[in-house]
Amino acid sequence: MTRVNDPIVINQTKLRNRLTMAPTVKFDYAGADGKATEKHIEHYRERAAHGCGLICVEATAIAPGGRFWKNHMGLWEDAQIEGHQEIVKACHENGAAVILQINHTGITSNPDCGPAIGPSAVPTRDPSVLSKEMTIDEIHEMQTLFADAAVRAKKAGYDGIQLHGCHGYLINQFISKKTNLRSDEYGGSDENRARFAAEIIREIRNRCGEEFLISVRTAGVEPDVATAIAVAEEYVKAGCDYLQVSTGIEWEDPTLTEHEAPYNLICEMGIRFHEYFRDRVPVSCVNSIFTPEQIKYLIENELVDTVDLGRAILADPAICEAALEDAPYVKCFDCPRCQYGPGMVHKCPAETRRMQ
Ligand SMILES: Cc1cc2nc3c(=O)[nH]c(=O)nc-3n(C[C@H](O)[C@H](O)[C@H](O)COP(=O)(O)O)c2cc1C
Repeated sequence: MTRVNDPIVINQTKLRNRLTMAPTVKFDYAGADGKATEKHIEHYRERAAHGCGLICVEATAIAPGGRFWKNHMGLWEDAQIEGHQEIVKACHENGAAVILQINHTGITSNPDCGPAIGPSAVPTRDPSVLSKEMTIDEIHEMQTLFADAAVRAKKAGYDGIQLHGCHGYLINQFISKKTNLRSDEYGGSDENRARFAAEIIREIRNRCGEEFLISVRTAGVEPDVATAIAVAEEYVKAGCDYLQVSTGIEWEDPTLTEHEAPYNLICEMGIRFHEYFRDRVPVSCVNSIFTPEQIKYLIENELVDTVDLGRAILADPAICEAALEDAPYVKCFDCPRCQYGPGMVHKCPAETRRMQ
């Protein structure tokens, strides 16, 4: 039986256990220059120090125009490498492996940061404004920006990168038939819609080497699980080492039913991917995993290879010690507050309690 404490090697990177910190952006930590700050370094240091196996650092912009908001961390220029080096050091010194999620917001880009661009002309944040359809040259330039950011991530010392391929951002926009209406080699079949990301993976592999961990956080239903798996298969063929599964633009697949355990459908998407990719590519699941019991159930029953903790590890990083050695922790209250993003006025109530 696999246990939460069991290490796992992904490509050449050893994770000391099966706990991963899900990418969770800290809007108020970066300034408009996109540089990582002391707050970021401490935030990740603390989570690594509590025993997390892999820290997946938050969605980081590959271009100033691809941001959610102006105060969003980036790695679009060399001047931003130094802050990332400190994040990496803080994680490694505390025994955690660390990868960086890289992203472009595409048609959902904040208009204060850049134009809404994507695979096709479709409604943007402002439904009366259509995005600009990318030309083939623009697609290639964008792929190079992703690979450039990965090269900088390697220079900063990251064990690897993760392409943000879910939650409706640019890579996901290429996958969804709702946002990708193209009829060229980047639209239509599963292989074509996956081509944008698959070519990025190949370019990163060429430029960052065989040992660099390449992960994709992918949409579990787009528009159904079988198609989402076919897309992920293209990523794996291109060299993806590790899949984390979350939501996409479409959500509901009637073939997706709850597991007998009380897990939600988003976790179930990861479980279904794991069934398919078992013994080939490690798979992680996410969503509303708040207790050591849930974590142990998922790992000990070999439903997934690793478990992503989002709000639970934001609320109290001691959730890791709780799952590893039954230590006390404060459970996430599952309130929506931490999802408000910029301008958040409330503090996390669990964090407040643990500081008392
Ligand atoms: C404050 C916050 C920031 C987030 N930022 C990201 C992000 O940068 N990248 C990403 O893929 N998902 C992001 N997410 C989604 C989480 O990674 C995770 O999928 C989601 O919160 C569900 O997991 P949980 O129930 O364990 O929180 C964010 C979620 C929260 C609450």
